Amino acid sequence: MDIIKVKDYQEMSEKACSHVINNIHRQDAPVLGLATGSTPEGLYKQLIEKYRQKKVSFEQTTTFNLDEYVGLENDDRNSYHYYMQEKLFNHIDISAEKANLPNGSAADLEQECRNYEAQIQQANGIDLQILGIGLNGHIGFNEPGVSFASRTHVVDLAASTREANARFFPSLEDVPTQAITMGIETIMESKAILLLVSGKQKTEAVARFVNGEISEGFPASVLQQHPQVTLIADEAALGEV
Ligand code: GLP
Repeated sequence: MDIIKVKDYQEMSEKACSHVINNIHRQDAPVLGLATGSTPEGLYKQLIEKYRQKKVSFEQTTTFNLDEYVGLENDDRNSYHYYMQEKLFNHIDISAEKANLPNGSAADLEQECRNYEAQIQQANGIDLQILGIGLNGHIGFNEPGVSFASRTHVVDLAASTREANARFFPSLEDVPTQAITMGIETIMESKAILLLVSGKQKTEAVARFVNGEISEGFPASVLQQHPQVTLIADEAALGEV
């Protein structure tokens, strides 16, 4: 694992942006895995900036987001579809057909999960998966206890995850109770992984991720077994690591 220690959130976002652009430039038809949450927002701002400066184009890029809430329409302000449109897709030259997220309002959610897996396979898999980490070690919405053999599936969200994400909703009751997420095996099949972490509230999670035992009780620990992981973390998040 490569660990890149940076000063703060801004530097994490800038370094992540260079890493992503290098990856895009290495491939004819790049496939990126994208994440939501607060952590990658700075990265997306940087990517938009570089696109405006004509340093990168996303015309040939295909993207797959990690997850989406169940029960929210794509145009719901709290859906990850909406987040991605607002924070990235509306501002770059990616084509709408190449920007994929699971459909959390599909009538048949199990079928939607299978379709999503098939779409990733058809694109020849993900070249670079961007990840954040939840306080309980979740990646995507793979909560503690998830099987390391899981593929895209429907999950019940942990109470702590709903509480952590309630800041984006009018109230805790409005936070959906389920989501569709890529599984651990889906994530582990990505050719490379870029994990971003910022802030002292994540210090314990980072320490467990880097040095802790590999266990389904702390899903991010599985990444220790991936051959190509880059962690970009700021001083506050790294703590004593
Ligand atoms: C959310 C998302 C994850 C994200 C994590 C951390 O629940 N599903 O993909 O990495 O929580 O979010 P944040 O970056 O806001 O701390």
